[in-house]
Amino acid sequence: MDLSIEIEGIHFKNPIVTASGPLGFGDEFFKYTSSDTIGGFTSKTVTPYPITGNIPPRLVYLQNGLLNSIGLQNPGVDFFIQKIAPSLPQTCVRIISVGGESPEDFANVTKKVEKFADMIEVNLSCPNVGGSVIASDSKLTKEILSACKMTTKKPLIAKLSLDLDTVWQSQIAMESGIKIVNIGNSIQGARFNVKTGKPFLKNVRGGLSGPAFMPIALWKVYQVKQAFPELTIIGLGGVEKAEDVVEYIVAGASLIEIGTQAMIDPKSIQKIIEDLKKILEALKLDIKEIIGASHRGGFR
Ligand SMILES: Cc1cc2nc3c(=O)[nH]c(=O)nc-3n(C[C@H](O)[C@H](O)[C@H](O)COP(=O)(O)O)c2cc1C
Repeated sequence: MDLSIEIEGIHFKNPIVTASGPLGFGDEFFKYTSSDTIGGFTSKTVTPYPITGNIPPRLVYLQNGLLNSIGLQNPGVDFFIQKIAPSLPQTCVRIISVGGESPEDFANVTKKVEKFADMIEVNLSCPNVGGSVIASDSKLTKEILSACKMTTKKPLIAKLSLDLDTVWQSQIAMESGIKIVNIGNSIQGARFNVKTGKPFLKNVRGGLSGPAFMPIALWKVYQVKQAFPELTIIGLGGVEKAEDVVEYIVAGASLIEIGTQAMIDPKSIQKIIEDLKKILEALKLDIKEIIGASHRGGFR
């Protein structure tokens, strides 16, 4: 069963891509899973200058997910292009996630990283830095996306916030000439310790990822596909098994990213891909035939 898919002229051997962040730049992950196996790898978000991130504690494991307030910790773009980018895997699609505060920041990082990337993901939605996410400001979002577009000819992905209306954000991305949206970043949340009366996270709020997140993200993927059938959607949030991948595809996603699960059990990604093949073989359907199937009354 052929799982390959072409997105904006880029060939993915299968639709499984790692999500930005949980795997950093992949050094640990690729000890367990070969880049020959996955469709693509997304780097941790890279910013103009190094960021040390928020003060710990900044991770809380929940029954059904993970709350993190890492805060875009990364070594900065200059270190990244000198020491990390040249050894990114070559046998899967390389997506580099870019971040910053202003259109100039984003353009500057994009310009420096583009030769190491097949695609650039523009992170408009980190829930753990500043007061509000960039995506809440439509003018700034348009300026950032336009600045990136003027800087590179590589396909751009707008990473949206699930704390905001994703149809509205997709419209803004499309008006800026973007053809691929990522739905989406972790959702803001908090947990409190009943023994101490204090928040678990030093920063109080964090981003929720993992299975608890999945029905919310699936609904957003469905809504965006319904509103804009021509838009390419990357769906993610809480994927743990091949059936979860199928849910995202029938809701309207063409690519599926996996973050928390790949961090908890990197070896499970290979099994997800093998099981996805088996599910499609049993259905006797090609991956391209089932994208958005729920909008057409299901299979056949
Ligand atoms: C520890 C951690 C760090 C993350 N760092 C980033 C990041 O740097 N950039 C980004 O766009 N998303 C980041 N994310 C969000 C993930 O890319 C993804 O949107 C989210 O975790 C939902 O997918 P999952 O449930 O498969 O993990 C991070 C998530 C986690 C758990």
